[in-house]
Amino acid sequence: MKIVAINGSHKKVGGNTQIILDHLLAGAASKGAAVETIRLSTYDIRPCLACDACQRLEFYACIQDTKDDFLKILETFRSADTIVFATPIYVFHMSSRLRVFFERMYGRGKSNINTYSKTHLFFHDIDHQTLSKPFVSVITASNTEDLTTQSTELFFKTYSAFMDAPQVGSIVRNGWALLHKEIQKEPNKKLAKILADVHFAGRQLATDGFISRKIEKRIRANVLPIPKTVFNILKRFPHTRKKILEKSKQRTSIKPSSLV
Ligand SMILES: Cc1cc2nc3c(=O)[nH]c(=O)nc-3n(C[C@H](O)[C@H](O)[C@H](O)COP(=O)(O)O)c2cc1C
Repeated sequence: MKIVAINGSHKKVGGNTQIILDHLLAGAASKGAAVETIRLSTYDIRPCLACDACQRLEFYACIQDTKDDFLKILETFRSADTIVFATPIYVFHMSSRLRVFFERMYGRGKSNINTYSKTHLFFHDIDHQTLSKPFVSVITASNTEDLTTQSTELFFKTYSAFMDAPQVGSIVRNGWALLHKEIQKEPNKKLAKILADVHFAGRQLATDGFISRKIEKRIRANVLPIPKTVFNILKRFPHTRKKILEKSKQRTSIKPSSLV
């Protein structure tokens, strides 16, 4: 099995998303999978211009393809059996870099040919060999509010339904604002456990072809000092909620510059 991960972070080295990917792919590699990571930040990928040249009958090619690195990435993408789409949350959604990547995929289908997805959604022709590969989504975020990652989680569900691409895993790890100091300085049991679970998820992916709901839930474990349900109920008591959050941030002494 070959797994190709696409990291949408703007960072060229390191980063929270890459930490998750490193553990996931190391787990998969330990079970014999061939793994490769594409950091979009290290490539030149120009945005779709919505010129629709790719949809014109005589052309059917993206005019940006000859000017940037997109085809290089596409070749690696096509060589994969399973894809990992990984992104940090930037302003409540996936990174613009990953978004640009998906928009360039528009050119790989013929939007004037109508068709239906396997789930009976009205859609248009796509290059199934490229776009219908099984995929895992990886999302990282600083915030602990579940709402922060919801639109991106929904995006991947929608992508899966329209593209006939089975989503074989969903890793969501928020709360990096609370986890960050521990990565930098102290050996942290909570983080070590999460990363061990991510490694296990990689092993599962390579052997079973999917990540179990149980392990996804463990990776998503609450990192607040109080149970998530209590934290959510406290929305009705904003003052107390604020105090708890401030206290937990003090405990990890996060400086604004280290939040990402
Ligand atoms: C421009 C920008 C916007 C961000 N917006 C959010 C946000 O809306 N919600 C959030 O929880 N974190 C936000 N973050 C923090 C990142 O999601 C978080 O630190 C992520 O894990 C960074 O991943 P990376 O190190 O792989 O880039 C933002 C960071 C940046 C740079």
